[in-house]
Amino acid sequence: MKICIIGTGYVGLVSGTCFSDMGNKVICVDTDINKINKLNSGTVPIYEPGLEELVLKNKKNDRLFFSTDINGSIKKSDIVFICVGTPTKNNKADLKYVFKAVYSISKNLNKYKIIVTKSTVPVRTGDKIEKILNSKKNKNKFCVLSNPEFLREGEAIRDFFYPDRVVIGTKSKKANNIMKNLYMPIIKKKNRYFQTSRRAAELIKYASNAFLATKISYINEIANLCEKLDIDIKEVSSGIGLDQRIGGRFLRAGPGYGGSCFPKDTRALVTTANRSNTDLSIVKSVIKSNNNRNKMLTSKIKKIMNYNLKNKIITFLGVTFKAGTDDMRESPSLKIIPQLIKKGSLIKYYEPTGSKKEFNKLKHLKYCTNLREACKNSDLVIIHTEWNEFKQLNFKTLVRKNNFKIYDMRNLYSPEKMKKNKLNYYCIGR
Ligand SMILES: NC(=O)c1ccc[n+]([C@@H]2O[C@H](COP(=O)([O-])OP(=O)(O)OC[C@H]3O[C@@H](n4cnc5c(N)ncnc54)[C@H](O)[C@@H]3O)[C@@H](O)[C@H]2O)c1
Repeated sequence: MKICIIGTGYVGLVSGTCFSDMGNKVICVDTDINKINKLNSGTVPIYEPGLEELVLKNKKNDRLFFSTDINGSIKKSDIVFICVGTPTKNNKADLKYVFKAVYSISKNLNKYKIIVTKSTVPVRTGDKIEKILNSKKNKNKFCVLSNPEFLREGEAIRDFFYPDRVVIGTKSKKANNIMKNLYMPIIKKKNRYFQTSRRAAELIKYASNAFLATKISYINEIANLCEKLDIDIKEVSSGIGLDQRIGGRFLRAGPGYGGSCFPKDTRALVTTANRSNTDLSIVKSVIKSNNNRNKMLTSKIKKIMNYNLKNKIITFLGVTFKAGTDDMRESPSLKIIPQLIKKGSLIKYYEPTGSKKEFNKLKHLKYCTNLREACKNSDLVIIHTEWNEFKQLNFKTLVRKNNFKIYDMRNLYSPEKMKKNKLNYYCIGR
């Protein structure tokens, strides 16, 4: 198959690379010329484990190409995947990048093509795209279908090759057969391929993300209760998760959810529902609960520091919203750090994926290139992200200061062991 991927970000680059690895000819296009130049010179612009090797291998084998020529790339392809960003603007999915891509597609339908929305788009976006493409000249030359993406950053390649399910939203037999053939090498069991209506596919993506966000917020609130009742949230999570109806995943208490999907998708889903006069009260409470979480954690930090943050050195270990990615979008650290600086704290941070431009404008904040420099002389070390390298630290030799404190927002350490080692250790829900 000849494939064009429009939008070479986390989703587009991973999907394009993996499709090429399965033997397809893939052109990944992007409007960001720097990104394309980097990829053409063999540098992968994002951090995703295993991606660089796969990009280089398939580039070398002449199956994977990078270009800014959107028109030419669409013309050469049988399937066009739209993988551009869909950020929220005023709580509504902003589809300007999607529609820009669609206008490029409409000018280049030189033969029958399948147009796939892999970007997360609100219900009925497929209908709108179809309407835009549906000119006399383009009659019978396309099928618009929805194929939402469920990959997780940090595990994206594994998720692509071993998906829980591939959802294809179309009623077209022809398009469905082509998509089934495309995905055949990775659909290990038949029931992993799920064909449905286009609108249902669009909603499945939002409803899945909102459900996972609910699970996270739910366990975070139960963790709040555990702190009051002197119960260990880890034990409660394990006990709940053993129920197969519930499942053990997404039951780890921590900072609120962040990233490029859950925050924006929950907001956009509520907007879609409001427009259909449907009250998604559960999702609304989840958004509220998650927004409150950052404030709550900041209050907890103040309490740990005996309400005196002025000139206190606070070290953040990790600032991304989760381990395995360099993505900073809606990371809790973006809210917590400025609040601490406002209160007079001096922030140092170490992040395995490097310094972050999002903090460039902040004063009293320093990026450290290693753990030792970051922790040295700190009054408080906050474990913000669950990177493996933070799991077995000797805090005393790293910090070298009397009475320093540790706030483990990921529950990586055992409170008992920390107490035995005479460390001032605080964690979540324990
Ligand atoms: N990141 C994830 O983990 C994830 C997972 C599942 C679904 N999604 C969804 O996938 C979509 C893409 O997310 P992402 O994280 O990959 O975004 P991203 O911001 O990393 O990448 C989007 C890319 O599209 C490019 N672009 C924008 N307009 C373009 C155009 N007209 N032509 C060509 N390129 C264009 C941008 O320059 C950018 O490189 C979003 O809808 C997101 O909700 C993301």
